[in-house]
Amino acid sequence: MTEEQSAEEQSAAERAAERRRVTGRRREDAALDQATFAEAFVALTDGIILTDHDGVVVSANPAAFMILGEDSLVGNVFEELLLVSGATRIQETDGHLVRRAWFPREERMGVLEMMSTSLPGGRALHTVRDVTAQAELLRLKEEFLMEVAHELRTPISGLIASLDLVVDDALNMPRNELALLAGALRRSALRLEHLVENLMDAGSIEAGTFQVRAQTASLKHSLSEAMAFIHPMLESKGQELVKAFEPDADRVLADERRTTQVFANLISNASKYAPEGTRVTVAAKSIEGYVRITVADEGPGIPLDEQNRLFQRFFRSRTVREQAGGLGLGLSICRAIVHAQGGDISIDSTPGRGTSVHFTLPKARHLAEEAED
Ligand SMILES: Nc1ncnc2c1ncn2[C@@H]1O[C@H](COP(=O)(O)OP(=O)(O)OP(=O)(O)O)[C@@H](O)[C@H]1O
Ligand SMILES: [Mg+2]
Repeated sequence: MTEEQSAEEQSAAERAAERRRVTGRRREDAALDQATFAEAFVALTDGIILTDHDGVVVSANPAAFMILGEDSLVGNVFEELLLVSGATRIQETDGHLVRRAWFPREERMGVLEMMSTSLPGGRALHTVRDVTAQAELLRLKEEFLMEVAHELRTPISGLIASLDLVVDDALNMPRNELALLAGALRRSALRLEHLVENLMDAGSIEAGTFQVRAQTASLKHSLSEAMAFIHPMLESKGQELVKAFEPDADRVLADERRTTQVFANLISNASKYAPEGTRVTVAAKSIEGYVRITVADEGPGIPLDEQNRLFQRFFRSRTVREQAGGLGLGLSICRAIVHAQGGDISIDSTPGRGTSVHFTLPKARHLAEEAED
């Protein structure tokens, strides 16, 4: 590069910087006092653009240059700039027009929201805002709502199908068929309850209002409560639940209902992700003031590069997403429950071999020990 060239480039850069600082304009058409314009709008993160009666950009603040690019702004027709991105109208009221358009950002496309306000003499003021982050949030919200609706639909369809049979034929039905039907109704209702409970807990964990009430409780009792929900899942896949509790590994200091929820989530994962006819083992042993519980399956395991994300809300492995439903909430809730009670939770998984989830809960002290204190 010659000295001349670099001096030229430097002065071009200085001019651009000056333009950014002071704002751009077409001197002869300046509709607002440029100095006022610059002072008022220089610090704004929204782009502000003024167009004349021909729709030509006469002034723009630094944010507008940042968002829309330096070269194409001042002296060009604003509407022509928008044509490239194919803006869509969002709202139109007296003198105000709100539009959205895609525009190229550093690495990918972003979303712009533009509000154009008519001024006297055919001029117009346009605010340009980068709403990519809000648009992304909105997209995630919609996606989540669709997933929730999808998850709710299966048990609701089950309930409706069973209820239709009751309405049509309950009085003439043999007792055993009626019992089967009642069982199906209960399963669908329990599945709905589980889903709604997970959704509500995810909300209260996020809001910081999640609570547990720890007291002396029996692990076996929590497990048997969870069976009402899990047993039908295991049965429908021909899976067997094996319990291996050491004799002194039952009494813990925990919220019994919450422990039931942990079992329901972990065993339903084991059943959901493992193939038919496999075994799910629930083991408990006592270790230094804690009881360590393990729920192990003979399923597909979890890819190593995904294992550190399993407790994140909404995370679902790419390997199972298509094959089984879920919202990606279960493990994050289990972790919140276990941590709130002073325990810990971890996953040990070998792709192709199966997954074991371990969690600990403080061991309840014997009445005799308490009496000694
Ligand atoms: N036993 C398991 N075997 C294989 N993958 C598992 C197992 N448990 C969890 N995973 C993986 O971890 C992800 C997160 O599990 P989590 O229980 O939090 O959510 P989910 O089962 O997808 O949905 P939800 O529990 O909210 O219905 C699952 O989507 C799955 O990819
Ligand atoms: Mg789950």
